[in-house]
Amino acid sequence: MHSSSTALLDLKKYTPNIVTTLFSLADRAKEERLPLSGSGHVIALLFLEPSTRTRLSFQTAAYRVGLSPLVLEDNGGSSLEKGETPEDTILNVAALGSRLIVIRCGDGVDLKSLSSKTSVPILNAGWGKIGHPTQALTDTYAMYSRWKNLAGKKLLFLGDAKHSRVVASHMEIASVLQLQLGYAGPKNLLPENFVGQHFDRLADGLAWSDAVMSLRFQFERHTETSQQNLKIEEFKKEWGLSADSLKNLKKDGLIMHPGPVHWGLEIESSIAKDPRCIILDQVRHGVWIREALLRNALGEDGV
Ligand code: CP
Repeated sequence: MHSSSTALLDLKKYTPNIVTTLFSLADRAKEERLPLSGSGHVIALLFLEPSTRTRLSFQTAAYRVGLSPLVLEDNGGSSLEKGETPEDTILNVAALGSRLIVIRCGDGVDLKSLSSKTSVPILNAGWGKIGHPTQALTDTYAMYSRWKNLAGKKLLFLGDAKHSRVVASHMEIASVLQLQLGYAGPKNLLPENFVGQHFDRLADGLAWSDAVMSLRFQFERHTETSQQNLKIEEFKKEWGLSADSLKNLKKDGLIMHPGPVHWGLEIESSIAKDPRCIILDQVRHGVWIREALLRNALGEDGV
């Protein structure tokens, strides 16, 4: 009997209780290095699409708790180059004895079906446009670390929300945390299923929000038509985050970005020095939340 109970493919079944436990585990990881009882076990990090933050934060978290991560990235040197399917690769890595598999892949890989074919927990580390649950948990944990309670707080997305798997995962977790979502940007970059307020003026959205999250243009996920319709200079003028537009954000508001950042495109370079900017703090929190997720997936947390 195969079980995928400790897999993490999305956040749809997350409850306030699970989030509270994860955030407590992450708080503990922040305070001390606590090896897992199963330390020395091998886990696999399969990154079939590029990554810096997610891959290295899972790797850092694995070393911190005494796990040995095997890393396969960008198909390089693997049998994927010889035509092996990602599905076969995953099942073979499971057969090698990995205790869990962290995977980044495109929409075409059916992680749900794979999860039912193996008892090895699969953790979604960025799955096409479908979702990026560990990033949404990273972002909300970074906010929680400052505010302790996210109920009623307002998070505004800016830019290419339509092609963002990060936004897709935030939409799954926001109601659990009672976080309100908003979007300021052109209608053609808003996901059809977006639940939240849409602002026609950047200044109005910024004045409404407690935190603003700028998003990268996901050029690799645009169709040829959407590329042609994209008027970057017009976007920058109307919707780009600048020191001037940020005068509308609260003095204690937060400026965020899941990364990688296109400085000078969706966000002006000088903003890195704004005291409200917590982009690198998000990255730090990503290590602690991924450590908590590894504990959870390996059954060492009681969630
Ligand atoms: N935020 C994020 O997923 O960054 P990477 O692509 O570098 O992992």
